[in-house]
Amino acid sequence: MPERTLMVTNDFPPREGGIEVFAYEIARRLAGPDGTGVTVLASGRRGGTAGEGPERFDRRQPFEVVRVDTAMLLPTPRVARRAAELAAERGCTRVVFGAAAPLGLMAGRLRRDGGVHRIVGLTHGHEAWWARLPATRRLLRRIGEGVDHLTYIGGYTRDAIAPALSPAARERMVRLAPGVDTGLFRPGGDGAEVRERHGLGEGPVVLSASRLVPRKGVDALIQAMPWVRARIPDARLLVVGDGPDRERLRRLAAWTGVEGEVVFAGTVAHASMPPYYAAADLFAMPCRTRRLGLEAEGLGIVFLEAASCGLPVLAGSSGGAPETVAHGTTGYVVDGGDAREIADRITRVLTSGSRAKAMGEAGRKRVDHAWTWDGAAERLERLLEG
Ligand code: GDD
Repeated sequence: MPERTLMVTNDFPPREGGIEVFAYEIARRLAGPDGTGVTVLASGRRGGTAGEGPERFDRRQPFEVVRVDTAMLLPTPRVARRAAELAAERGCTRVVFGAAAPLGLMAGRLRRDGGVHRIVGLTHGHEAWWARLPATRRLLRRIGEGVDHLTYIGGYTRDAIAPALSPAARERMVRLAPGVDTGLFRPGGDGAEVRERHGLGEGPVVLSASRLVPRKGVDALIQAMPWVRARIPDARLLVVGDGPDRERLRRLAAWTGVEGEVVFAGTVAHASMPPYYAAADLFAMPCRTRRLGLEAEGLGIVFLEAASCGLPVLAGSSGGAPETVAHGTTGYVVDGGDAREIADRITRVLTSGSRAKAMGEAGRKRVDHAWTWDGAAERLERLLEG
């Protein structure tokens, strides 16, 4: 019988976001056919969901989800004790941290009191900035010592994280990139209902999907819209997601004179994303690096999902985002601080007809084999087996 795994993660659906999607896709594969292969220990926070609360979500899962009643799961003594007890009770001999920082600091306690002998910590974008600041860099080094493997999502995050680790922990780093469910995110979907509900009309639609924070570059897309509309008067911008920047972005749209052409759809559940991609002609997230290089994009699952749906993609030249695009073939890498360049690329793609279609087809092909959740889960299983 395969060994059981405890996944400890602050980020888990029904909240939306990249780590949430990553942790969920991995958990459901570790669960195995009867669901007993994994128990998930997650925070109980409700914010950022598209309707369904954690209780209902958890009941629908074929595996066990245990919630700690806290907004953010941190490696406090209380949480470490709970995780170790749960591992021991459920006979979980292996642990996966949904995000290595900061929860990986509990690794020692889990080995000592939980009977755990194999630990893998997944890293995403934020560990890259942890590696840069002296205090968090020391903690990241400790995390690297406590786990058997730290994984990385791409070349940018590997290069950023590796220098913070001991030579031995660096040696043990393994690539574990996100994937896409290419059956769910596929070309030819029906976007008519989304277009109608949001009054998008018949013209071309540019879609962006992200947490609304300045790094994701929705503001630059809004600033690009007047130039785009000068060439394509019926073009629209559809923004999926929510976050602290929402009101500023709404004001910016009004101030830029494109209030009626920018539609904020709010948070959308991950499983409901395909019709949004289907409603669009181009996906754009011109992410940019902020705070003196500290805040960059780790990779960007949305670029992969968009390509999988056959859309041409515009990605900002921040962090690992360019790794998701074959520049000139599946889309373009743009300077997220240059609204004029963004407008130019959008306009050219939207007016190029067959070229845009060819880019979408090339993107789908690129994603189809290289970025799969099954592949990621198999690699993780091998790491957990040692
Ligand atoms: N933000 C947001 N808002 N995401 C949504 C929503 C929504 O309303 N609905 C669904 N999603 C899904 C997207 O479809 C996608 O699967 C995921 O949430 C967003 O993932 P990323 O584009 O990767 O962005 P992130 O900043 O949340 O994720 C972080 O971790 C990723 C995984 O390692 C970043 O570090 C990324 O760079 C990294 O790829």
